[in-house]
Amino acid sequence: MSEPTKKQLIINAFAMHSPSHLNPGLFRYPTDQGSSYKNIQTWITLAKKLEAAKFHAIFFADVLGGYDVYKGPSNLSPTIPAAAQFPINDPLYSIPAMAAATESIGFGVTASTTYDAPYALARRFSTVDHLSNGRVGWNIVTSYLDSAARNFGLDTQVEHDERYRIADEYLDVTYKLWEGSWRDDAVVWNQGVNGTEVNGSDAGGSKKERSTQYADPTRVRQIDHKGKYFQVPGPHLCEPSPQRTPFLLQAGTSTAGKAFAAKHAEAVFLHAQKPELVRPSVDSIRQQAAALGRNPADIKVIAGALVIVAETDEAAHAKVEELKKYGDREGALALFGGWTGYDLSTYADDQDFRFVELPAVRSMVNHWASTVPGTEGVKWDKRTIADYLVLGGNGVKIIGSVKTVADELERWVSVGDVDGFNLSYASLPDTFDDIIELLLPELRRRGLFWEDYAVKGGTLRENMYGQRGQSRLPEAHTGAKYFWKAGQDVPPYSLNESE
Ligand SMILES: Cc1cc2nc3c(=O)[nH]c(=O)nc-3n(C[C@H](O)[C@H](O)[C@H](O)COP(=O)(O)O)c2cc1C
Repeated sequence: MSEPTKKQLIINAFAMHSPSHLNPGLFRYPTDQGSSYKNIQTWITLAKKLEAAKFHAIFFADVLGGYDVYKGPSNLSPTIPAAAQFPINDPLYSIPAMAAATESIGFGVTASTTYDAPYALARRFSTVDHLSNGRVGWNIVTSYLDSAARNFGLDTQVEHDERYRIADEYLDVTYKLWEGSWRDDAVVWNQGVNGTEVNGSDAGGSKKERSTQYADPTRVRQIDHKGKYFQVPGPHLCEPSPQRTPFLLQAGTSTAGKAFAAKHAEAVFLHAQKPELVRPSVDSIRQQAAALGRNPADIKVIAGALVIVAETDEAAHAKVEELKKYGDREGALALFGGWTGYDLSTYADDQDFRFVELPAVRSMVNHWASTVPGTEGVKWDKRTIADYLVLGGNGVKIIGSVKTVADELERWVSVGDVDGFNLSYASLPDTFDDIIELLLPELRRRGLFWEDYAVKGGTLRENMYGQRGQSRLPEAHTGAKYFWKAGQDVPPYSLNESE
């Protein structure tokens, strides 16, 4: 066994409000509960189970259109039978219900800066931050599906780097609303006439005299944002929530994506096959963050992974083969079409995509060919691609006994410098049950995973950073310049700075 590293892992569950997330067709597996995604009890039961096991959070991926490129254009017929991320409900509405049934686990929710107005999004996240006692995170995405663009009134997607420029200004608007529109001590109803608190709780019941004002109007102000992409006068509609800005996550490894992450993200999701290959991106994001004055350790790097663990290596591989029988290969190729924009149906069945003329597809497939275990000498045709993507999508698959899996996770930490994992499922909740019963005790034995939440009943940011009292953005974060602290007559930023 390699020398144990004492970095405490962040362990999240990666899910979707759809019958299948990264497992097209697996709703057919006899014990799979993916098709119960519409039932709030499914999510409440899962949240309680994951909290009992001390998962940091559940992260919900989300998309705003169908995967209609394969056998397209605009064709959902391979997608629909597989339930390949379709149908899909909005994840945000389930968070307060899960929060009411738990006290410490966090919830990440994906929302797009391309198709949602910042004023409305800021309000929705503040609402859920209040109702969850500060346990919500925002997975900031710029989106990738043309089908979403068309349904939001565009002919095609906004150009890739332009999406990130829009996202950058979008974040400024939301920081101003969350951090700079209401002074920290704006709400005064429970302060009493002489400034002393008359009622520590907002549940009511105190007979003592309360302030005549709910909030002090001199401590709530317009943000008057006038930028290139957004005009938002404000003020923010919600009073300050526990975290103000929700814990910020981001996924995207293009040059523009990494620059965005270095400036804004508190956690970054990455997909890669090997920790050696993830390391340059991790180093680049941490270096860029340091150049912006941030503590590089304040960016938590979280690798997406499918972990299938069993008593022995053979049993784990047998489990994978059994699960794969239920996978839908057409659905997997539909996912590939949406992720890349390329329709593999236009190629012959025996086309080896390691040699295809499309550079983007060729390089992706060659990457898989050189990294996916057990595929040496295999022809990467549609069958192989579908078989590879049908469980766990494009993320690494770590399959084996407890020792095999724990050793490999340790290697990801020491070689890749990652801080943790977003664990997807092949079958819901069986994949998590195995991880809880078999893997987590071993990670604890190796000193790699906490016994309990750092801050029981704390905010998501407190538990992600492992620090009590760290509910707000760190002071060195770009959003902290918008803080409007108690006692400051005006917030420390100029109203006109983004003009
Ligand atoms: C692990 C991971 C999870 C992602 N989850 C979502 C998601 O739920 N919704 C979405 O629209 N995009 C998602 N993305 C896509 C990214 O947000 C981004 O659009 C994509 O990686 C392209 O950005 P890039 O060109 O900067 O890499 C995810 C990407 C990764 C790597």
